[in-house]
Amino acid sequence: MAKPTAVFLFGSPRKSGNTAAACALLERALAKRFRVRRHDLYRMDFRGCAHCDGCKKDERGPACRLRDEFRPVLDEIAAARVIVVASPVYCWSVSGCMSAALDRLYCCFKASGKSLLAKKKFLGVFTAGGDAFDGMDLCVAMLQRLCQYGQAEYCGTLAAVECATPKDVARRKELARAARGFVHAL
Ligand SMILES: Cc1cc2nc3c(=O)[nH]c(=O)nc-3n(C[C@H](O)[C@H](O)[C@H](O)COP(=O)(O)O)c2cc1C
Repeated sequence: MAKPTAVFLFGSPRKSGNTAAACALLERALAKRFRVRRHDLYRMDFRGCAHCDGCKKDERGPACRLRDEFRPVLDEIAAARVIVVASPVYCWSVSGCMSAALDRLYCCFKASGKSLLAKKKFLGVFTAGGDAFDGMDLCVAMLQRLCQYGQAEYCGTLAAVECATPKDVARRKELARAARGFVHAL
């Protein structure tokens, strides 16, 4: 039987930075049970939501009217079982490309109240230079709120705080343990 899909929205400009190191821990754990697809948002050509509302009545799919590189990702999200939102904490929020990508999920919320994100499992991967209350907390709260609005299931966040180097993140045993725990609970 085909494995269900886990879609990673990867929002760091640094290909081999702290967020990539944290993602690798989760990807390794997920790969046993899921087909993992990673989208490198910073290197994709796309914009944020245009608020045209052209998507709102079409319930067959995301139906976003913007024809750019994020459009096929929306179809993947609509078909995925697990969605991972992975970003560095930037100015007490997620990165700019991640913010634009999350805005595009607007097309998943239909006029009838139907959500294409309903029952999907969301995980966060956030890395920060500061402690847990220097913006990481706000990223987690945002993701929880998104899940609540979209009738999705928030399954937790792999939170790497006070990051120094990617090597340091990769070596943190508690992160690898947490990643395995999240996958076990999915
Ligand atoms: C533009 C910018 C803004 C940042 N803002 C915050 C912040 O508000 N809070 C925090 O804890 N760390 C902040 N940091 C530190 C990053 O979150 C941290 O270095 C992160 O692990 C970088 O991930 P990366 O290596 O994947 O790019 C900021 C870094 C940059 C470049």
